[in-house]
Amino acid sequence: MNRDRISRLAHADHPIASPLDDDAVRLLLDQVIPREDARVLDLGCGSAEWLLRALQANPRLHAEGVDLSEASLAEARDRARALGVADRLTLHHEDAAAFTAAQPFDAVLSSGATHAFGGLLPTLAAARKHLAPGGRVLIGDGFWEGEPSPEAVAMLGDFADLATTVDRVVADGWTPVHGHVSTRRELDHYEWSWTGSLASWALDHPADPDSADALAASTTHRDEWLKVYRDCFGFVCLVLRPTSA
Ligand SMILES: C[S@@+](CC[C@H](N)C(=O)[O-])C[C@H]1O[C@@H](n2cnc3c(N)ncnc32)[C@H](O)[C@@H]1O
Repeated sequence: MNRDRISRLAHADHPIASPLDDDAVRLLLDQVIPREDARVLDLGCGSAEWLLRALQANPRLHAEGVDLSEASLAEARDRARALGVADRLTLHHEDAAAFTAAQPFDAVLSSGATHAFGGLLPTLAAARKHLAPGGRVLIGDGFWEGEPSPEAVAMLGDFADLATTVDRVVADGWTPVHGHVSTRRELDHYEWSWTGSLASWALDHPADPDSADALAASTTHRDEWLKVYRDCFGFVCLVLRPTSA
């Protein structure tokens, strides 16, 4: 079954593809967007849910999103039209690591997409290139909340603990001006929603050729979460300003 289709079905009830609740997303957007008429870029935007919320909250804001998933971008386009914000949203179907823009941005977002750049610091290096003077970055990435097994590292990547993660960001020339560490409730809600939405779709569509695969993918994901990484994976969002302008 196509990965894009799995991801879209799994995120049906949790359109932010990261373990954050709606209040956390709103507070982070408030912190990263410096003014109402800001230009905002999301690298690895998925269905552009962060940008859609920013556009709805700020009627003079303009947003651009970059993603490799044409299906997610199509969903973003449809939602933007339905919300009446399509005229202020530009979507780019391309590799976020290679994306260039004629004008810089007041806020650059990237949550859950550091793998697209080869890690946290390369993602920040890419974000920095797009940042206007006085701009801010919102980055969301995993960290180890507990000791990971070799299987968890192989599955999710080689993160650090939270303090080390923040130290690395600071040493890279950034000052955190806000942050959010996903709670146990947010982490669990995200995984139950992911696995549950996919499983429910499979049970509701037994005649669909993808039904059995969807149920199997939900079961595999739930097993990996509960048996491999639930006790060690954490997720942090940082709002950053360049330490020296
Ligand atoms: C976990 S999702 C996060 C989506 C969104 N940032 C959010 O929080 O809702 C990761 C996204 O990164 C995208 N992605 C992965 N590699 C990419 C690349 N090289 N360039 C652009 N997007 C990429 C995927 O298609 C996916 O939409």
